[in-house]
Amino acid sequence: MNQTVFTSFEPKHVDLFNNAPLRLDHSLDRSALFSMDALAELIERYPREHYSLVHMGEQGSPRKTWREGDIGGLTGRQVIDWIANGRMWLNLRNVKTVDPRYQELLDAIFGEMAERLPGFSAFNQGLGILISSPKAQVYYHCDLPGQSLWQIAGRKRVFLYPNTKPFLTPEQLEGIALFSLETDMRYEPWFDEHAVVHDLEPGQMLHWPLNAPHRVENYDCLNVSMTIEYWTDEIRRAHMVNVANGILRQRFGWAPKSRAIHGPGFAAKAVLQKALKNSAWLKREKAARRPVDFKLDRERRGHIVDLATQG
Ligand SMILES: [Fe+2]
Repeated sequence: MNQTVFTSFEPKHVDLFNNAPLRLDHSLDRSALFSMDALAELIERYPREHYSLVHMGEQGSPRKTWREGDIGGLTGRQVIDWIANGRMWLNLRNVKTVDPRYQELLDAIFGEMAERLPGFSAFNQGLGILISSPKAQVYYHCDLPGQSLWQIAGRKRVFLYPNTKPFLTPEQLEGIALFSLETDMRYEPWFDEHAVVHDLEPGQMLHWPLNAPHRVENYDCLNVSMTIEYWTDEIRRAHMVNVANGILRQRFGWAPKSRAIHGPGFAAKAVLQKALKNSAWLKREKAARRPVDFKLDRERRGHIVDLATQG
């Protein structure tokens, strides 16, 4: 990478980082790595185990529907065209392991963050590319690692909520840490009165405080976005506490009072979650695996076919 990724990073942003939603400018909408040709080519050679194709309900419909599918042998160009005419998203989840150019990009991003944010040190960084339909939506949820969302093409409205009760409870965080229940979170329309809302344009990115719940509504255009996730020592410790508190609450019926990430209570929880996390990890893996039940319809642009009725 010989271009600067962040094009607006001021001293105030250092104070805001991780304490409040933060919108910054970036240059990746102009990068060759995200041209439609590059994305089409990437889709064509993308390993099955590293992508998710998700079909969702209409914006505003009360019923949450979320189905997982397969791109069904279409070309990369066709896949993008089908998404542009459907209501779904394609998540290329693990891009750095598929193409080393995106690992270089990740290194450049975190290099710039380390230069600008005193004491910031991250590991296990991940980079995903999301290609999503006009008017597609991502339901209210929260994520465990540190997160940011980068807009490359199209426009979307992002709603960010406080990472405190009633928007996010310790029980919900523990449920996500133990069983991956991130899309089962309670959401009420009045939560929006307390949201920070951004209309994200190409060349803008958002970072938000750890675990802050969020949801996304695309405008009426094809969207290309990049998601970045990362862990820090503090995030890892918070995760260990969530796992341990979840085990205490779910298995031993004991309501944990502390979420401290240092001291003797934390040390005991670190031991407890280490002893039990393999079984929890297995459960989580099982729960996270949703069956693939549709594929893209070769004949009808933007449509899908149920795999179950294929015979
Ligand atoms: Fe998210």
